[in-house]
Amino acid sequence: MHTPVLLKEAIAILNPLEGEFFIDGTFGEGGHSKEILKRITPGGTLLGIDWDREILEHNSDLPDKWPNDTIILKHGNYADTPAILAKHNLPKADGMIVDLGFSFWHIDESKRGFSFMKDELLDMRYDPDGNDRTAYETVNTLRENELADIIYHYGDERNSRRIAKRIVEERRKKKIETAHELSEIVNSAFHFKDPRISPATRTFQAIRIYVNSELENIRKLLAELTGILKPGGRLGVITFHSIEDKIVKENFKLLHQENTIAFLNKKVIKPEREEIARNPKSRSAKLRAICLKN
Ligand SMILES: C[S@@+](CC[C@H](N)C(=O)[O-])C[C@H]1O[C@@H](n2cnc3c(N)ncnc32)[C@H](O)[C@@H]1O
Repeated sequence: MHTPVLLKEAIAILNPLEGEFFIDGTFGEGGHSKEILKRITPGGTLLGIDWDREILEHNSDLPDKWPNDTIILKHGNYADTPAILAKHNLPKADGMIVDLGFSFWHIDESKRGFSFMKDELLDMRYDPDGNDRTAYETVNTLRENELADIIYHYGDERNSRRIAKRIVEERRKKKIETAHELSEIVNSAFHFKDPRISPATRTFQAIRIYVNSELENIRKLLAELTGILKPGGRLGVITFHSIEDKIVKENFKLLHQENTIAFLNKKVIKPEREEIARNPKSRSAKLRAICLKN
């Protein structure tokens, strides 16, 4: 069962109002969208974007539950939001939310190797039709130092050099095909195993970020806010690791210095203890929100 993260906090700070036009840039299973829809109707419209066509189809019954034109679902990259608005003749928005990363559905049902616990082929793409870079290609073709850099920078993994070395040793014997094989190889690079976190967690995160250009997508979105939001329009970004959060924090700081945005929260918003107890996956979530100046 999908549980949207920081839902109450995101709705409170973005304050969607009756009749407004909102964008959910990472529609997923529609958790945040459903709550936004309740606030903007009647008269409002929600544009839900997701880069994963399958997850949109999986939730395709959602529009039926709302009157025509209230919800518009489009397959695409949130980094291309200005082009998506132009293509569908939509105006700039009163508000937007992006809830970064992957969803529980990717781990549980996508069969694309997102989970190190499953024996699935290594893919990890959100958009298998439009993105040629797979996890399989990444681990089997990149040079050892390139792999080490990706695992270090995108996974915050101090053991990155040893992991990259082990990957290259193993792929010389046989191509690494499944998520399970990769996780066994990563595990073998650790002398000491932290009981709180599986050794493969950070490496899988790093490869997923690389395969989907996740950091570039955030940077592109944040560079284009004036083409997406009306003056006074609000944006909330939920991140799940320090690398993403740092990009959001630094870009917001620059936009603030340029007098383009105002902060809606002084301190970063984190889940309450009760949410973490109910949904442990929320523990690393952070929400930052701004509004575009008039
Ligand atoms: C954390 S989930 C969102 C969950 C959603 N807020 C909910 O409550 O159901 C992130 C979603 O963003 C999608 N996604 C990841 N990168 C994307 C991108 N660049 N553009 C659009 N969607 C993206 C993923 O396919 C996934 O469905």
